[in-house]
Amino acid sequence: MSTYRIAGIPGDGIGVDVTIEARKVLDRAAELHGFGLEWTEFDWSCERYSRTGTMMPAEGVEQLAPFDAILLGAVGFPGVPDHVSLWGLLIPLRRAFAQYVNLRPVKLLPGTTSVLAGRSAEELEMVIVRENSEGEYSAIGGRHNTGQPGEFVLQESVFTRVGVQRIIRYAFELAVNRKGRVCSATKSNGLIHSMPYWDEIFAEVAAEYPNVASEQCHVDALAARMVQQPERLDVVVASNLFGDILSDLAAAVTGGLGMAPSGNINPPGEFPSMFEAVHGSAPDIAGQGIANPVAQVLTGAMLLEHLGRTGAANAVTTAVEKVLAEGAVATPDLGGTATTAQLGSAIAAALG
Ligand code: NAI
Ligand code: MG
Repeated sequence: MSTYRIAGIPGDGIGVDVTIEARKVLDRAAELHGFGLEWTEFDWSCERYSRTGTMMPAEGVEQLAPFDAILLGAVGFPGVPDHVSLWGLLIPLRRAFAQYVNLRPVKLLPGTTSVLAGRSAEELEMVIVRENSEGEYSAIGGRHNTGQPGEFVLQESVFTRVGVQRIIRYAFELAVNRKGRVCSATKSNGLIHSMPYWDEIFAEVAAEYPNVASEQCHVDALAARMVQQPERLDVVVASNLFGDILSDLAAAVTGGLGMAPSGNINPPGEFPSMFEAVHGSAPDIAGQGIANPVAQVLTGAMLLEHLGRTGAANAVTTAVEKVLAEGAVATPDLGGTATTAQLGSAIAAALG
């Protein structure tokens, strides 16, 4: 029997609540599909930061490197500035492990009331490919003339040829096995250096895929299209910042952040990939046992798929859809009164 080594980082807030449920479902799926998951848990979080002054130990990257995959809850908590939790854990891990793809599938699930209610699941099924290692999320810049009347800050973006090419190529490869359409998010009218460069590389890569329909769209118009004509979208490729914003919007139109999974992927497989829901640690509902675990469970299904366990991954997705369609066990964000644990257990039970 093959056994996979999984690093669990529950993190803060509801990250902890939903990760327990995802483990419950994944362990049951593994049992039913004849493989093992060996979990090692790490307490890296804002809570740890408050105790020790760092989000994770200095050798954190080395500790995680031997694992087959990482399942992360969310990090962030009031009292610790968000840039500390992001730059002290998430960004160093994404970059050290060259997880340059942030893959965010978007799908209208049964039993959800969307602002797009009336649309079919077929019309609202896309995937956002977010660049995850450079772009607007850069540490280059600084504050100058602090405290003076002429005070100013600079925040630079970094777009490399290698970085832009590989993310766009990844999007086209995905489209080949989907509906065959790629839309690139741009803003070359406002960002006159970075985005024309992005567009130029997009056109070069698109030329290598004559059978995939390609188009580019300004990110603001694309946001509107996502709500008004989602059926026109299949694979959306975007820079780090644009992809981040578009994926929260996409989550919102498909029933909320409680339903949206995501993976930070190292496509060559040289390093572990890291799976985390789109949502954060939701301090407003943390510790109340009411967070929706579906996003993290579907994130777990992406992890299984990444390990090559497609059968188990599909079984988890089907179990989620079955429980949501029945509607008897639903957390408050879905209009029900179930707890996080009740919904997690119902999904595990639906696996058979
Ligand atoms: P958030 O996603 O944590 O919450 C936004 C809203 O959605 C809240 O009202 C929350 O209650 C609701 N929500 C989110 N997930 C839910 C779930 N599973 N079930 C039911 N309702 C859910 O985003 P926010 O408030 O901007 O950030 C809170 C903290 O999380 C911050 O410290 C932020 O930095 C951090 N964060 C961490 C991320 C990560 O670890 N990858 C990603 C996004 C935010
Ligand atoms: Mg985000």
